[in-house]
Amino acid sequence: MVDIHSHFLPGIDDGAQTAEQSNLMVQMAQSHGTRILVASPHADVQFRYDPDQVDRLLEEARSVAPAGIRLVRACDFHLMADNIEAALKDPARYTINGKCYLLMELSDLTIFANTSELWSRLEDAGMRIILTHPERNPLLRQRIGLIEEWVGEGRFMQLTASSLLGLFGPKALAFSRQLLDRGLAHFVASDAHDLRARPPRLDLAFAWLSRHYSEELAKRLCIDHPLAAVEGSAIDLSDFPPSAPASKPSLLRRLFGSRSDS
Ligand SMILES: [Fe+2]
Repeated sequence: MVDIHSHFLPGIDDGAQTAEQSNLMVQMAQSHGTRILVASPHADVQFRYDPDQVDRLLEEARSVAPAGIRLVRACDFHLMADNIEAALKDPARYTINGKCYLLMELSDLTIFANTSELWSRLEDAGMRIILTHPERNPLLRQRIGLIEEWVGEGRFMQLTASSLLGLFGPKALAFSRQLLDRGLAHFVASDAHDLRARPPRLDLAFAWLSRHYSEELAKRLCIDHPLAAVEGSAIDLSDFPPSAPASKPSLLRRLFGSRSDS
């Protein structure tokens, strides 16, 4: 699996606080099937993002990481004026692996009326928008039509793995399901912050998706699309979401509500 969103680098945001904790998070990800782990420290008013510092921390993390996991740079880009201007000057400092995909976080308190225009400026400079955890944003949960519009304009949506497990509450879980049902969720990532409350366990989401939707969908959301984001290649949505396998009794599932448990 490829996990495009995590806060495992130590001491630079509200994620891992020590090098030891950071290394344990990498080990946990690797031992549960993650082969590429993206470091995406916050870039917002509270936590200043310095790509050079992130590169230095990544080198240290790589030197002690177990074999079989690749560590890559990105950031958790908060939509604000300073960030936009800086990203327009040098997109590769902010994008995943220096390619074209940008992890985009919106405020929980307000959605700018010109959000789409601001994103267009970034897109005109070659960036592609991946909106992080819309299911955890109370304003967006009221506006699925807006999300549908954004997806129609070529933006991607990333769910948090633990939202699918119910760890962000019933509203985040219910909205995640709505997005999945409508084919409006393109990525799942751990957004890991520590070893316990928010661990780097993308495998749990993969299993949940396989059980409640299909293994094909799990593969698209946890492997194929994230790998394309790391490589900077196009994501083909012409056959997305994949249709449920014929062997799955969708009528029975509806009658007996197997999608309603978590
Ligand atoms: Fe995050």
